[in-house]
Amino acid sequence: MSLLFSPTTLAIVYGRKMVSVQRMLDFDVLAGRKPSVACIVDPVSSAPQKTFFGAKEFLLPVVRTLKEARERFPQADVLINFASQRSAGAVVLEGIAREVRVIATIAEGVPESDTRQWIVEAQRSGTTLIGPATVGAVTAGAFRVGDTGGSTEHLIASKLHRAGCVGYVGKSGGMSNELYRMIAEHSSGIAEGVAIGGDRNPGSTLLSHILRYQEEPSIAMIVMTSEIGGREEEDIAKALKEKRITKPLIAWVAGTSAEHFPKDVQFGHAGAWAASSAETAQAKNQLLKKAGALVPQRFEGLPEIIAKTYEALKASGRVQDPMEPILPELPSDRRSAHVQCTISDDRGAEATYGSTPISQFIHDGSLVKTLARLWWKTDLTQEALTYLEMILVAVADHGPAVAGAHNAIVAASADKDTVSALCSGLLTIGPRFGGAVDAAARAFFDAHARGLSPQEFVDAMKEQGERIPGIGHKIRSVHNPDTRVSTLLAFAQDHFGDLPLTTYALQVERITTTKKPNLILNVDGLIGVSLVDILLPQLPKDVADGFFEAGYLNGLFALGRSVGILGHIFDQKRLKSPLYRHPQEDILYGEGTLD
Ligand code: ACO
Ligand code: LMR
Repeated sequence: MSLLFSPTTLAIVYGRKMVSVQRMLDFDVLAGRKPSVACIVDPVSSAPQKTFFGAKEFLLPVVRTLKEARERFPQADVLINFASQRSAGAVVLEGIAREVRVIATIAEGVPESDTRQWIVEAQRSGTTLIGPATVGAVTAGAFRVGDTGGSTEHLIASKLHRAGCVGYVGKSGGMSNELYRMIAEHSSGIAEGVAIGGDRNPGSTLLSHILRYQEEPSIAMIVMTSEIGGREEEDIAKALKEKRITKPLIAWVAGTSAEHFPKDVQFGHAGAWAASSAETAQAKNQLLKKAGALVPQRFEGLPEIIAKTYEALKASGRVQDPMEPILPELPSDRRSAHVQCTISDDRGAEATYGSTPISQFIHDGSLVKTLARLWWKTDLTQEALTYLEMILVAVADHGPAVAGAHNAIVAASADKDTVSALCSGLLTIGPRFGGAVDAAARAFFDAHARGLSPQEFVDAMKEQGERIPGIGHKIRSVHNPDTRVSTLLAFAQDHFGDLPLTTYALQVERITTTKKPNLILNVDGLIGVSLVDILLPQLPKDVADGFFEAGYLNGLFALGRSVGILGHIFDQKRLKSPLYRHPQEDILYGEGTLD
């Protein structure tokens, strides 16, 4: 393939660089193609990204790893690497290993030893590298890397939305943007442009792109710019002399002003300094000119040479002016929606849970089926649904003395309305009461994943001075077992086969109960660990990703317990309970010292 990109090229963007991603999508609209970004890789969060395609806002998929990006979007074979200079190298090497076809790396300041390693690996695998220290590349009318081409106005003025007949390659990103416009103003515009970056060891060379352009039938002439420093122009001059480059090559090496400075002036790029007289801009311009390149006297002469070359090609019938397409409008007043929803929709004739009409859930008559759809955006197996329903029943109430019920009773007796009294009860759910489910799931999961033996886990928690979430009960113990735990456990063991985390938690319980009989695996603990075993594997990837952070499991306790708390509130209201006042004799006043 002699052009790097086509109108169906798809990219993976590494890093949530939304301004650049939006620019790529705006380019796509102008070029009349479908979105060119398949997904973003963000190692920190897989939350989808709000983005515009034209006037329409949509959610762009985000994944945590390049591995997942390649698996989910195998047709996306271009990687746009916005990783920082520190991590850019690892991303490139992984991209090469995962058979990405083109990798553009934007970061500046990447260590030269890193780039030298990439180049060796890329040559082995046939990967094309662009950068580092670059804005990227663009195939006109087909695909744009990140911010290449600059603002929308500049992009349109540079005619990047449709193909011309000029192949461009240069080092500097800023200079490439300038040249795209100059070329568009003095010819039919570019077919493809690449800024290889200003480092001393760029991932690809000027010559490699020039030779591609030589092979590409849609390219009639080539423009290259370079700068002071390095000796690649000698290879280009050689290729010209050997007639490996036969298309007109217009060249300009910037940095001629260096002679007015003391020796060894360093320009903006890492590679832009002349280590010898052969690396000066003047020497390289002369060399190229002698080899047959069209080199102006000064930079200001470039437009004229471009225009003359293009006109000559036109006169010979080799190229013609392209038709200018009608450009679609990019709305200037796009506003991102304030609220985002991915679980239900109320816009049609009938509201939906997911994409299923509510009436279907009503017919099914299953609360847990509804819950699975609205909480986890999925349908669970019948056994898992039954188990969830059993959990809701098990935690619905535990008598009037427990923290939540007691608080609600006090609030109801103060004549608070139902919802306020419910909130008062729910607000007691926390790390010690009913709200230890998620923490238990996570603590046991982490310990198990780290390979800690049950004893090592207990010891580690003790050393940190922390209680094990999901262990211990105020009144239940090995002598007074909690039937909720035994009933749920029996069902789980009967219906779900292997329960590795639950088994691990039961081993922990064996250790803690030898210390004190009430340090049992409590109802929070069992729900937590058994749902890691049973529920987590059934959840869609994006939901499973945030399983331990979202608070789903404490949510289950709160949902189930709401039934009981409301029961207590109605009970108090029926009983017309008077205002509760805690008995003074049950309070130890002051410091509690003897008189
Ligand atoms: N992990 C390790 N040691 C514990 C734990 C635990 N989870 N819970 C209590 N202990 C230890 C205490 O440090 C104490 O040790 P010590 O005698 O050497 O000082 C001893 O066991 C007894 O502690 P108490 O505070 O008397 O226990 P209590 O019966 O008051 O606490 C409670 C019960 C609050 C549930 C406690 O076990 C706990 O905090 N557990 C973790 C949180 C949790 O799982 N809560 C959910 C409970 S179930 C529900 O609410 C529906
Ligand atoms: C509950 O479910 O509320 C109980 O396990 C807590 C308790 O102290 O009984």
